Amino acid sequence: MISQGSSEHSICFAIPQNQALLASSTIKTVFETERTRGIQTLEVTESCTILAVVGDTMSGTPGVAASFFGALARAGVNVRAIAQGSSERNISVVIDEADAAKALRAAHAGFYLSKQTLSIGLIGPGHVGSAFLDQLAGRSEWLLEEFGVDLRVRAICATKKMIVDQAPIELSSWRERLDEEAIPADLDELAAYVHTESVPHAVIIDCTASENIGSRYLDWLSAGIHVITPNKKANTGTLDYYRSLREHGRRSDAHYLYETTVGAALPILQTLRDLVQTGDEIQRIEGILSGTLSYLFNSFDGTKPFSEIVRQAWEMGYTEPDPREDLSGLDVGRKVVILAREIGMDLDLSDLEIDGLVPEGLEDGSVNNFLDRLENHDDEMAGLVEGATSRGEVLRFVGSIAPEEGCSVALRSYPTDHPFARIHLTDNIVQFQTARYNDNPLVVQGPGAGPEVTAGGVFADLLRLASNLGATL
Ligand SMILES: NC(=O)c1ccc[n+]([C@@H]2O[C@H](COP(=O)([O-])OP(=O)(O)OC[C@H]3O[C@@H](n4cnc5c(N)ncnc54)[C@H](OP(=O)(O)O)[C@@H]3O)[C@@H](O)[C@H]2O)c1
Repeated sequence: MISQGSSEHSICFAIPQNQALLASSTIKTVFETERTRGIQTLEVTESCTILAVVGDTMSGTPGVAASFFGALARAGVNVRAIAQGSSERNISVVIDEADAAKALRAAHAGFYLSKQTLSIGLIGPGHVGSAFLDQLAGRSEWLLEEFGVDLRVRAICATKKMIVDQAPIELSSWRERLDEEAIPADLDELAAYVHTESVPHAVIIDCTASENIGSRYLDWLSAGIHVITPNKKANTGTLDYYRSLREHGRRSDAHYLYETTVGAALPILQTLRDLVQTGDEIQRIEGILSGTLSYLFNSFDGTKPFSEIVRQAWEMGYTEPDPREDLSGLDVGRKVVILAREIGMDLDLSDLEIDGLVPEGLEDGSVNNFLDRLENHDDEMAGLVEGATSRGEVLRFVGSIAPEEGCSVALRSYPTDHPFARIHLTDNIVQFQTARYNDNPLVVQGPGAGPEVTAGGVFADLLRLASNLGATL
C-alpha cells in the first residue's frame, strides 16, 4: 500500500514486517547512490496493520469514508496513513497492530455489518447498581436483536470484592458469582479488563456514593473510557476538577454522562442544557430536589412523628445510604451546585448557604443511633408543621439557584395551591423561570428517587452513549 499527500512531503509504504529491514536499507542505498536531495528522514514503524474497506457500491456513494473514519475515531483508533484509489472501491488505512481487533469491530459496526459492542464495568452493585443489572438482564437480548447494540458486562465491583470475566457476565447469576468467585476489588485491574483491546468501546458505570471513585473519572476519560454515574461527588468536588471533567467530556472521544445526579431519571439537566444552548436566559431555578425530603414532607402532616417517617424512608431505600446526607441539606446542596455549575456559576459547596434539618449534636455516630435520637426532636418538627397548617401552607425543603441573587437550600412554606404543594410520594419538582418561560415557568415533575427509576435513568444514559457512538436507537 502506498500513500502520498498532495503536499508531496512524504511517501508512506506499508510492507510486510519481515521485509522492513531489507526495504529500508535498499531505499537508503538508492537515495545515497543517486545523491537525491531533500530526503530528510527515512523511518520504519513496526507492528502496524492495514485495515481496508472494500466494496463495489462504494464508488460514487458519499459518506463511506466518513463512516469508516468516524467509527475508528469513536473507538479511539489512531490512523497512521490513508490510501484510496480513484476507482473508490477500496479505502485502506494503516493502524497500530494492537488496535487491529478493536478497529475491525468498530468498522464492522460502523457499516452495520456487526453489532455495536460496549464493554461495561459496574462499580457499586447496591440498590441502584443491582436494579440496573436486573433491568439490563431483561432488555439486553431485545436491544441486541432490535438495534444491534451488544451490552456486555465484564466486571462488577463492590467495596472489597469484584468479579471480572473476558466473556460477558451472565446477568441472571452475578449475585452468586460475586458471593462465591470474587477476587479482591482492584479498580486498576477492573479498568484494564473493561478497556480490553478487542472491544471498541468501554464504559464504567459508577453506582457508588464514593468520593474516591469519583476522583478516578478523569483518568478513565483520559484513557478513552466513557463514564456514566448517578454519584454526585465528582461534579460537586473542586471547580477545577469539575471543569476538567466537562472539558474532557466535550473534547475527547470519551463521554461523561450524569443525568441521574439530579432528579434521578427526570430530564432536569437535559432540559436545562436545551434552554441554555438555545439562548434562553435563566432567571431562577427552584425545586424540591430530594426524593427523600419530598417524601418526608408529603407524608408529614403532624399525624405521625417526623422520626418515624425518616426511618421508613431509609428502610425503603428512598434515602442516601446515610439519611443525614439528605436531612442536612447536603444532598440538595450538591444538586444545587450541579445545576448552578451547569449554567456557568462558579459555585462551591462550601460557599452555599444550607439551612439543614439535622439537630445539633446528631451529626456524628451510626445511622441507627441517629435514627433513635431523632425522636427527641419530634416536638420541634410538629410545631413547624402546625404553624404552616394554620397559615394554609405546607412545608417544603427547596433548593434555589438565581444567577443574580445567589443560591440557597432551606425549609420553606408554600400556599396549598402552589405547584410545590401538589406533589406525590418521592416526587421531585423543578421550576425553570427564564426569559421565555417567565410568567408561567417550565416545570419538570415526577418521581425523583428510588432504585428502580434511578437505574432506569442510568440505563437511558447508557443507551444515549451507544447512540453517540453510532448505534441507531
Ligand atoms: N437510591 C436512590 O434512590 C438514588 C437516587 C439518585 C441517585 N442515587 C445515587 O446512586 C448512588 C448509589 O446509591 P444506592 O442507593 O444504590 O447506594 P447503596 O445501596 O449504598 O450502594 C452503594 C454500592 O456502592 C458500593 N461501594 C461503595 N463504596 C465503594 C468503593 N469505594 N468501591 C467499590 N464499591 C463501592 C457498595 O458496595 P458494598 O456492598 O460492598 O458496600 C454498594 O454496592 C449514590 O451515589 C446515590 O447518591 C441514588
